[in-house]
Amino acid sequence: MHPKLFPSPLLFILIIFLVLVHVPISLCDDERYVNCSQPFVCGSLGNIIYPFWGRDRPEFCGHPGFELDCQDDNVTEIEIMSEKYRVLGITPDSQILKVARDDFWNNICPSRLVNTTLNFTFFNYASTVHNLTLYYNCTLNNIPSVPSSMQSRAFNCSVNKITQYGFYVTGTTPADAILWKCGDNVIVPVLQTAANALETNGTTLGATLDGGFELQWTVGSATCNQCLGSGGQCGYNSSTGQFSCFCRDQPYSKTCFTPGTNSGETYSNAGTTREACKYAGIAGAGAGARADLGKWVWAAAVLDRAREDTRQ
Ligand SMILES: *[C@@H]1O[C@H](CO)[C@@H](O)[C@H](O)[C@H]1NC(C)=O
Ligand SMILES: *[C@@H]1O[C@H](CO)[C@@H](O)[C@H](O)[C@H]1NC(C)=O
Ligand SMILES: *[C@@H]1O[C@H](CO)[C@@H](O)[C@H](O)[C@H]1NC(C)=O
Ligand SMILES: *[C@@H]1O[C@H](CO)[C@@H](O)[C@H](O)[C@H]1NC(C)=O
Ligand SMILES: *[C@@H]1O[C@H](CO)[C@@H](O)[C@H](O)[C@H]1NC(C)=O
Ligand SMILES: *[C@@H]1O[C@H](CO)[C@@H](O)[C@H](O)[C@H]1NC(C)=O
Ligand SMILES: *[C@@H]1O[C@H](CO)[C@@H](O)[C@H](O)[C@H]1NC(C)=O
Ligand SMILES: *[C@@H]1O[C@H](CO)[C@@H](O)[C@H](O)[C@H]1NC(C)=O
Ligand SMILES: *[C@@H]1O[C@H](CO)[C@@H](O)[C@H](O)[C@H]1NC(C)=O
Repeated sequence: MHPKLFPSPLLFILIIFLVLVHVPISLCDDERYVNCSQPFVCGSLGNIIYPFWGRDRPEFCGHPGFELDCQDDNVTEIEIMSEKYRVLGITPDSQILKVARDDFWNNICPSRLVNTTLNFTFFNYASTVHNLTLYYNCTLNNIPSVPSSMQSRAFNCSVNKITQYGFYVTGTTPADAILWKCGDNVIVPVLQTAANALETNGTTLGATLDGGFELQWTVGSATCNQCLGSGGQCGYNSSTGQFSCFCRDQPYSKTCFTPGTNSGETYSNAGTTREACKYAGIAGAGAGARADLGKWVWAAAVLDRAREDTRQ
């Protein structure tokens, strides 16, 4: 056999080392950094990060008021002012959250009627929103049937097995509405495009409500983008109520320190694993280059043991 087929001992050790340290890289990282690297995923919705949290993302990975819930591994929900909304889409670049009222989902006759209210600390209505007003529990004032001008707007709800009239208005209230006396009304935001389609009989009331509406979230993403750009994961410090940037080594208030400028120093309270990471040259950039082979082998062994421990 040709001797060149065998790798040199140094290369062999290097390969073993690389194999050993490849898996436990996350062992070396701050747990908050690791956990907040995990996006929120639910049904067709994925890749959702700060300010949202929930499911695999602990509370510190997002801003309060942005908790997402995943129902049946499929339906994402958010609670705003104690009311549940279905999340239909999230567009991080424009900070747009598309939601539909859960109580109106597939149902134009909810048993409890409440207006849509936002917590304006976190959300504003997007410019695409148009108000739809739904009137319920209406009686016709001395007329035998629904006037034809109102027929396309009218709907029925069965309340305690009794049929109640209702109707909707997307813009100015039609003159014939005066013939109705209604017990309740609620305002539900819908998309302007859906409201227009509804007025021209291009869609149904149910489809309009299920189409949802858009909210703009006001929690800034500029700081988060800076944190992400520095290699961190965005989060929240609940004790200070401030943004927090979780980095591989530790949390910072805005961005991670540039690697190389402070290697070693940020790990003053490091345990054996952290120490091993430093020598393996993963966490502390530059440290590995100075370490001798003995330290490398030791570090690889420690990391391997730590990896075994986490498997149990
Ligand atoms: C981070 O994620 C891991 C694995 O999902 C979990 O075991 C751990 O409890 C999480 N840590 C926190 C602080 O939530
Ligand atoms: C998820 O929801 C969609 C529509 O809401 C439905 O068609 C689909 O069957 C659901 N999938 C599961 C696994 O529940
Ligand atoms: C919703 O708001 C409208 C207008 O402010 C009001 O007339 C109506 O009574 C409210 N409906 C409920 C259920 O609170
Ligand atoms: C909005 O949410 C914040 C945080 O949960 C809360 O402190 C505040 O009172 C809410 N605003 C309203 C109007 O309820
Ligand atoms: C819709 O009504 C709400 C009050 O319920 C109001 O705050 C909002 O500005 C209205 N939106 C539009 C587009 O008129
Ligand atoms: C409502 O119900 C009544 C009687 O049950 C029926 O005559 C009417 O056509 C219904 N109206 C609508 C809009 O469904
Ligand atoms: C319907 O409205 C009347 C008053 O117009 C009220 O007495 C009745 O309780 C209402 N019914 C329901 C189910 O809301
Ligand atoms: C929608 O339908 C109603 C009756 O079904 C009719 O009176 C109205 O003119 C229609 N509107 C448009 C824009 O076609
Ligand atoms: C939160 O802020 C306090 C005070 O600045 C700091 O001591 C603590 O380490 C921070 N915690 C996190 C998780 O960022």
